[in-house]
Amino acid sequence: MNVLVIGSGGREHALVWKLSQSPRVKQLYCTPGNPGTAELALPFPSDAGDFPGLIAASRRLGIDLTVVGPEAPLAAGIVDEFRDAGLAVFGPAKRAAELEWSKAFAKDFMRRHAIPAASSTTFTPGRVDEALAHVRSAPLPLVIKADGLAAGKGVVVCRTRDDAVRALEEISDPALFGSAGSTVLVEEFMAGAEASVFAVTDGSDFVTLAPAQDHKRALDGDRGKNTGGMGAYAPAPCVTPALMKEVEERIIRPTLEGMASEGRKYTGCLYVGLMLTNEGPKVVEYNCRFGDPETQVVLPLYGGDFADLLLASATGAVGALPQARPSAGSAVCVVIASGGYPGSYKTGKPISLPGPGETPPGVHIFHAGTGRGPGGELVTSGGRVLGVTAVRPDGGMAQTIAEAYEAVTLISFDGMHFRHDIGKGALA
Ligand code: AMP
Ligand code: GLY
Repeated sequence: MNVLVIGSGGREHALVWKLSQSPRVKQLYCTPGNPGTAELALPFPSDAGDFPGLIAASRRLGIDLTVVGPEAPLAAGIVDEFRDAGLAVFGPAKRAAELEWSKAFAKDFMRRHAIPAASSTTFTPGRVDEALAHVRSAPLPLVIKADGLAAGKGVVVCRTRDDAVRALEEISDPALFGSAGSTVLVEEFMAGAEASVFAVTDGSDFVTLAPAQDHKRALDGDRGKNTGGMGAYAPAPCVTPALMKEVEERIIRPTLEGMASEGRKYTGCLYVGLMLTNEGPKVVEYNCRFGDPETQVVLPLYGGDFADLLLASATGAVGALPQARPSAGSAVCVVIASGGYPGSYKTGKPISLPGPGETPPGVHIFHAGTGRGPGGELVTSGGRVLGVTAVRPDGGMAQTIAEAYEAVTLISFDGMHFRHDIGKGALA
């Protein structure tokens, strides 16, 4: 089959890389893509934001499956448009993706279906005064969230009332958050370990991938600002097989059944962000897509044919898939970021990478914020630049971590920074 991947980050490079290993895939395309995806996939003759253009080009080039990476096109209804055109597409429809693009919807949905989550109150536009009064008396710590998509920046964990008032004022400021923060949520703080679980589903049957943990803070020891993710590892040992069963039965299955019963059949990847609390696993958030950088560590461990899995999700055939080999081994991804990220940073810095044949076996360097300079040289073009991923088929997380960091020493660009403690949580 011919497959088109939409997106340009580390997640999309990992998707293209995994799909390229399927004997079922004849030709891969990626748009807008990056210099890493360009090694495995052809550029696509249509802009990623132009849905009618994408559909026309997909027909012309005989695309059998389109895989949508990021949340923005999903929230804009790309899946609905492809389906209306009779094309197979991996991802949820707009009304199903609302689980990610409206945290207020997700909260109400979980309440309706008794899915475990933190208790919370939603304040609709114009009710900032009520929200302020609420945070002045609610038990600390508490969590303030923007309702809409905010690129990972719309959540603040507040330990003091002053922090909470400031967060509320910032999130509801249209100059800072636009319409994403016009509705805000004030949520109970949950303590525990966090984990990400991905379920690939056709709306009724689903396959869960290896549980992962990402590292959201910028600095070692979970200090510094929140980022899109500074690294990840899988499997996360805190999600034992018994806990995974519980997550499937108490969270994933009721979510899919609840969405179907509300006329919002959920297809694609359901990303469940979990807090493992003393009272059991609870949902921190849903995302309507694969996580970044978790994808970079979860896909290498998947033992089945990934193209078949995504096509089955798009065509309603997940229940008919052969049983995949259980995922085995371990993977660690260290994100290398631009100096200053997640604050402001400069781009266009030349990147030095291992040459052909010099990348150690089992190491994959996934491109995220990379581009080409005036002379065609590889340069930085974003905050998260590369995801250096080590994979060992035989487990041994300590060894996998060592191999990932060994590979990091082969890479350099001006100002680069990365965390030194990715994966340590798995050893504790
Ligand atoms: P989200 O964008 O909803 O995943 O939130 C970003 C991060 O904020 C999460 O990964 C958690 O670390 C933290 N967080 C969100 N909600 C809560 C909560 N209710 N209790 C504790 N931490 C939370
Ligand atoms: N790694 C967090 C996310 O993809 O939302």
